[in-house]
Order: sequence, then C-alpha cells, then structure tokens
Amino acid sequence: MKLFLDTANVAQVAEVARWGVLDGVTTNPSLVAKEGKDFKAVVLEMCQHVPCVSAQVTAPDVEGMKRQGEEYASWHKHVVVKVPMTVGGLEVVKYLSGKKIKTNVTLVFSVAQAILAAKAGATIISPFVGRLDDIGEDGMGLIKEIMEVWQHSKFATEVLVASTRHPRHIVDAGKLGAHICTIPYEVFVKLPKHTLTDNGYKKFQEDWGKVKK
Ligand code: E4P
Repeated sequence: MKLFLDTANVAQVAEVARWGVLDGVTTNPSLVAKEGKDFKAVVLEMCQHVPCVSAQVTAPDVEGMKRQGEEYASWHKHVVVKVPMTVGGLEVVKYLSGKKIKTNVTLVFSVAQAILAAKAGATIISPFVGRLDDIGEDGMGLIKEIMEVWQHSKFATEVLVASTRHPRHIVDAGKLGAHICTIPYEVFVKLPKHTLTDNGYKKFQEDWGKVKK
C-alpha cells in the first residue's frame, strides 16, 4: 500500500519524506490556492522529494485540458496529470494515456465512474471517501465495491482512497486492498502516535538514567 500526502505545502512534504514512508503527493486547486505560491514551482519542488506528484488540469474544455496535461507532464517525469471525472475528462484521459502520460482521475463518487475512468486508461482513480461520509453516505463502502469489481476485471488502474479524514480511513483502505491512500498532513502526523508508545518510551528513558554506566 502506498501512502501519499494530500497537500500543496512543500515543507510538509519534505518533513514526511524524511520519515522514509512517503510515496507521493496529491494536490488540487483548493490546496494550491491556500498556499499562495507559484503552481509550477511548487510541483517541481515536490518532485524532488517524491516519485509521484498529481497536478490537476483546470481548463474548461477538452482541448485546453489536453494542452495543460501535456504541459504539466513535460515539467518532470514524476508528474501525474490529475483530470476531473467528467465526460470531457474521460476523453482527455484516453488521449493522454495514448501518449504514455500518467493520469489520476479525481472526484470519483460511484463505481460506474470508477469503471469508466479505468476503461479510458487512467493510471490512478481517486474515489473521495470523506466527502461521501460528510453527506451521510458510506465512503468506505464505495471502496469495497470498487475493489470487488477490480478483482473480477483485473484493471491495471490503481485505486487511490482520497478525502481521508482520520487514521481509521487509512487502516480500512489497507484492509480492502486499496493501492494508495492520500492523507492530509494533520492526519498523517497522527499515524505514528500512540499513548502507550509515548508512555513506554518516557519510562525507558527515565530508567536508562538510573542504570550504572
Ligand atoms: C484528492 O486527491 C483530493 O485532493 C483530496 O483528497 C480531497 O479531499 P477533501 O475532501 O478533504 O478536500
């Protein structure tokens, strides 16, 4: 299972990359806007830290998205072009996959969308669990159904669990066999923590101080 950071903050990526557990980064227009930095510069800096950085196309039409996708892919070999799950987006994914450009189809909220994106040639699909939970639906239930279909259809497309809100989402995604989980920084830093670890570590350190050396 691969772990990605869901952020456009380069310092956060550099910090978690130092732990030796980070496989990639997902950005989106909202995360990039929050940082107030130059988009290309941010993407290129992140490419120095991880082998997979999703950069989302924003053009309103198919031709524009194709052009943006080709441009982003030309920036660095670690760039994966993020494309919205629309009919036009599917066309863009088919076009980019024909050019061997990696794609991540975002805003996936149903199994039918997941199947279409995979058939169009997406490298990755991103079903959003948290936003489904937010409206009272079962986000992880969607992942379960997608993974069932994947077992039968043997799609090469990787399933990335997005819009995660808490550590349990990561565990459940792993148990369901999802390939990737993208995690906000605030949730990622909770993953190494356990009260018993903290207490046990403190006691070991204290007792070591009592040992004759
Ligand atoms: C995925 O690539 C998206 O950037 C992200 O997971 C969206 O999460 P949100 O619902 O917390 O905005």
